[in-house]
Amino acid sequence: MWDRKDLIGIEELKKEEIELIIETAKSMKDILNRSIKKVPTLRGRTICTLFYEPSTRTRSSFELAAKYLSADTISIATSTSSIQKGETLLDTVKTIEAMGVELFIIRHSSSGVPLFIAKNIRSKVINAGDGMHEHPTQALLDVFTVYEKKNRVDGLKIAIVGDIFHSRVARSNIYAWNKLGSSIIVCGPPTLIPKDIQYLNAKVTYNLDEAIEDADIVYVLRLQLERQKKGLFPSLREYHALFGVTEERLKKAKKDVLIMHPGPMNRGVEISSEVADSTLSLINEQVTNGVAVRMALLYLMLGGRSDENIN
Ligand code: CP
Repeated sequence: MWDRKDLIGIEELKKEEIELIIETAKSMKDILNRSIKKVPTLRGRTICTLFYEPSTRTRSSFELAAKYLSADTISIATSTSSIQKGETLLDTVKTIEAMGVELFIIRHSSSGVPLFIAKNIRSKVINAGDGMHEHPTQALLDVFTVYEKKNRVDGLKIAIVGDIFHSRVARSNIYAWNKLGSSIIVCGPPTLIPKDIQYLNAKVTYNLDEAIEDADIVYVLRLQLERQKKGLFPSLREYHALFGVTEERLKKAKKDVLIMHPGPMNRGVEISSEVADSTLSLINEQVTNGVAVRMALLYLMLGGRSDENIN
């Protein structure tokens, strides 16, 4: 039974809540596999996406998820709204709430914004990524994707490679994998590994070969140049040489290793095109499963019951 008003991070979720989302997403995936994907479950419910940072995957998959469940959606474009006239974020959200919106999906460059909004409105809030804090729906779709492939996640070894420091995806994934019994090793240049990472129960290595040698999953992160000060590593070329996941580097990995990336990718920097487009890659499945997992969350948060027949 889902009884949270908001979804701000994986940190606060119990293992059972993650499992409930995964189970519900399986039913949603069945709907996605039909030729007619629309069900009337959320007819008459209204959802708003409010993104203060760019997004392709998260925003469009939430909007598709809402449409497949027959909810109505509005999308506030920060560049053409009254935000440009100086209206505060909270006033903007309260204005839309007054029009009857029941759930806001918020992305913001500052950590803590979705929580702040959630505490100040009656409507529900889903964090679609806040600063360097969390991106919970990304981690949920990642876990779902691995369940689908491996039928389990406990006991798996996950290597998270790249810009850990700036990554809300890494933080949410580390919380999720830990709660589900996987072990985690993070790998990247020392300047891109946070000093407090040991408190998150993740091993650290600065050597890519060591990270991937017995990994079941190699989870590659985007180098977030837009959040970085200059000088955290010598050059993109050197970064690629040391930490780029390529076919050559994967020769030392398990034969059935799976490759994941949350997107968007910097091809030729953190991952080669050969690896991204290979049969080992789950990147397209992650995107597809993003719709199923977000359908599950909308369904659970807007009053669906786990034992209800969604069909
Ligand atoms: N993974 C992810 O959050 O992608 P977008 O920025 O395109 O939403």
